[in-house]
Amino acid sequence: MSRQILVTSALPYANGALHIGHMLEYIQTDIWVRYQRLAGNQCQWVWADDGHGTPIMLKAEAEGITPLELITRCKAEHERDIEGFMLSPDNFHTTHSDENRELAELIYTKLRDAGHIVKRTIKQLYDAEKQMYLPDRFVKGICPNCSAADQYGDNCEVCSATYDATELKEPISQVSGATPELRDSEQHFFALSQFGDMLKEWTTSGTLQSEVANKLSEWLESGLQDWDISRNAPYWGFEIPDAPGKYFYVWLDAPIGYMASHKNLAARTNEDWEASWTPDSKVELYHFIGKDITNFHCLFWPAMLQGAGFRKPTGVFCHGFLTVDNLKMSKSRGTSVTIETWLKHLKPEYLRYYYASKLTSGVVDLNMNFEDFTTRCNADIVGKVVNIASRCAGFITKKFDGQLSENYPANAINDYQLFLSAQTSIGEYYEKREFGKAMREIMVLAEHANTYINDAEPWVKIKNPENASEVQDICTIGLNYFRAIVTYLSPVLPGIAAQTESFMNTKLSLESLEHPLVGHKINTYKPMMTRVENSQIEKILEDTKASSPTPVTSNAASSAESYEPLKPEIEIDEFNKVDLRVAVIVDAKPVEGADKLIELTLDIGIEQRTVFAGLKAAYKPEDMIGRTTVMVANLKPRKMRFGLSSGMVLAAGPGGSELFTLTPDTGATAGMRVK
Ligand code: MSP
Ligand code: ZN
Repeated sequence: MSRQILVTSALPYANGALHIGHMLEYIQTDIWVRYQRLAGNQCQWVWADDGHGTPIMLKAEAEGITPLELITRCKAEHERDIEGFMLSPDNFHTTHSDENRELAELIYTKLRDAGHIVKRTIKQLYDAEKQMYLPDRFVKGICPNCSAADQYGDNCEVCSATYDATELKEPISQVSGATPELRDSEQHFFALSQFGDMLKEWTTSGTLQSEVANKLSEWLESGLQDWDISRNAPYWGFEIPDAPGKYFYVWLDAPIGYMASHKNLAARTNEDWEASWTPDSKVELYHFIGKDITNFHCLFWPAMLQGAGFRKPTGVFCHGFLTVDNLKMSKSRGTSVTIETWLKHLKPEYLRYYYASKLTSGVVDLNMNFEDFTTRCNADIVGKVVNIASRCAGFITKKFDGQLSENYPANAINDYQLFLSAQTSIGEYYEKREFGKAMREIMVLAEHANTYINDAEPWVKIKNPENASEVQDICTIGLNYFRAIVTYLSPVLPGIAAQTESFMNTKLSLESLEHPLVGHKINTYKPMMTRVENSQIEKILEDTKASSPTPVTSNAASSAESYEPLKPEIEIDEFNKVDLRVAVIVDAKPVEGADKLIELTLDIGIEQRTVFAGLKAAYKPEDMIGRTTVMVANLKPRKMRFGLSSGMVLAAGPGGSELFTLTPDTGATAGMRVK
């Protein structure tokens, strides 16, 4: 019996370009979905753009277009990238759709009628200049926990504390630069606290990876907070049916977008989509997500589904983040590569294979190193796989009129069985999302095939006409190995699979492998993949750097970056109060208990200073030693949890990994005044 499987991947925000970080998730999904289809299961992948929320509203405003225009343009770009990367969703819809509005209203109403919605008046930060309530990511101020300056309203990049935006000291609106005021506002909350028992059960019943379940159990033990699902106008989203002027928070209608996309698809396929969403449904439902959005998918979403009378997911597959050279992706370092840029210089299949070769079922970050990437692709795809076909096909075409041997050589049947029986473990690895292990097992087969051809030396034997039929046999064996290998790789390399189908003049499938291809005419072989050249990688990085001024990522932090407003004018006297000094970093080390901090020892001539700087995501401590930089030397020392911080070093950028310390020109020495 074939399984019925419904798969989703997280919906990208429709306010920026897709990049190679997103692609980690989407390639992982695509490989799994294609494997399921190859294995004969019915597998649908429903997907969409996430079209609502404040960042989209403000980005559209900054561009002087409507939010609808922005999300329409982004959707077209995303669709282009999806096709370019050979992703195979059955539907790519948008959360700003009629289906989603209806379903969001339906789910909200059901939750409300079942007593799961509560209204509460809370204090919120209001930007009077811009006349809007401020989301957490659009307020910055001093961390209430460790006193670090310039922290967002939801958590501190320096000490990792989470807090309410209203707790920030000296808050500043990132939209206008104004000091926000506190206002009372009545909000709608989803009573997550009513679902504690269900979630404890569900999260530990095998639906989640153990590391995710463990992490969530901490939350579940400490008790769940109700969840604010409403936002005040102006807001770009769906208005709440019984609360004019209030809108659904983007994260309320975003996962409902999975259902909406399914419904939209069913209108074309005439499928009974609702049967997949009833509590007793036999359809398996899986969500692929990044580790940053686990709470939404593993707490809020199953609770919403249950509360509104729908089924819960069968499993949530959570992955880690892509890092480049072990650092977060960064536009200015040229490592936040968009899909558009990638496709200008390289085929998608290299990245698909590289990710596959490194992916596991765990929630671990995956590091991209371009040298490793080049070596891996050239050695495996070009050197091991494509090579088999290019070494065998020519002889068959030129010497045997494209005809494979009439019968499979009897002495090679056992070896062919090895290729066939590898199917079981390769299939299990795909199923368990251990793609790296699947790739290694397939490469062992490819090595076996290459060794066989090397030892058989058809290029030597062909010189003697008496050996003709032996050469035909060798190439028939080689090409049958190739067919099996490409069939196993087809979830990862769909383009090569399609090229193989036309060159070998046959459809690839697991069943057809049972009988080796014999007495069959193949077509002329055309080169399939060439080596990755360093120059292509250099162009990708250069293009990415060149396009860095425009924010292209989709998270609120970088959207906020484009709005960082000018501070009010000051007098020269005020500026002169700041004592800026050239400082030499004589020591730099990590700080235990603070993943974002580096403890710097700075020499400013007259004395040495200790400064705790939130630079860990941008620099390795050891790389900072010996550098010259600029510090505020007369800043009042601040007592932080880790010790006294006496001054501040200057760095440019929005924060996190995007921070660049200032360095004076050569000649400047420790202690010089900066004026
Ligand atoms: N719109 C929400 C998801 C709503 S799902 C109902 C969102 N969008 S996103 O564009 O920021 O991210 C989409 C997916 O891409 C998320 O699963 C996220 O974890 C993943 N990734 C974004 N950047 C990534 C990396 N650098 N590395 C790996 N995955 C990354 O979140
Ligand atoms: Zn802090």
